[in-house]
Amino acid sequence: MSLWVPNHVAIIMDGNGRWGKSRGLSRSEGHFAGTQAMEKIIDACVEMNIKVLTLYAFSTENWSRPADEVNYLMYLPVKFFNKKLPGFMKKNIRILVSGNIASLPDSTRKAVIKAVEQTKSNDGLIVNFALNYSGRSDILQAVRHLVLDIQHKKIDINQLDENYFQQFLYTKTLPDPEIIIRTGGEKRISNFLIWQSAQAELYFSDVYFPDFNKDLFRKAIAEVQKKHRIGF
Ligand code: FPP
Repeated sequence: MSLWVPNHVAIIMDGNGRWGKSRGLSRSEGHFAGTQAMEKIIDACVEMNIKVLTLYAFSTENWSRPADEVNYLMYLPVKFFNKKLPGFMKKNIRILVSGNIASLPDSTRKAVIKAVEQTKSNDGLIVNFALNYSGRSDILQAVRHLVLDIQHKKIDINQLDENYFQQFLYTKTLPDPEIIIRTGGEKRISNFLIWQSAQAELYFSDVYFPDFNKDLFRKAIAEVQKKHRIGF
């Protein structure tokens, strides 16, 4: 019997700030180190034949952080995609974004749109960045679209079901995640994929995200694979 591999893994990349502090570095240096860990996890997903990886890169709550940290987090995608896009093309990786990108700074939005456009024909791993994302705002924006459909009589309210609703979510083209991993020791979902995580396994690691590596990622997936073996 071949090993079950999840279609979709999602990660709450927590602990960057504490990682920086614990090394006498700034929080932003922690975020940069987090980006490097992220690259390794992306490679692990390609190696393991996982189809979708969603990464919680910036939540709508993150705007309340100090301005220099927010500015750095907005600059990171610009730097990251500039450097990494050719490699993503070679690896056949497709970039998607979930979140309200309309209110990102111009340079961030342009970098993200360029990455999505340039990789749109790739059919390997999908890396979906949750950027300016929150689960509640995802549901709310979906409700706005839904109400328009009801007003335009595209759907009768009695026919409304989960499938119809989820076509309006940011993640509409993606399967629900089977696993949500959170690093950094806290055991909370933090407004991440709250609709999509209904059936997901939750896996918590105490390791700060910059120290999360391929082995720890494989260990997390193996835990869930074990449960699937027992379940079937
Ligand atoms: C949470 O750690 C992490 C974030 C708010 C940002 C995560 C972003 C990255 C790893 C890089 C994103 C890069 C791109 C290209 C989109 P925290 O700051 O809350 O850590 P703490 O709990 O220790 O304070």
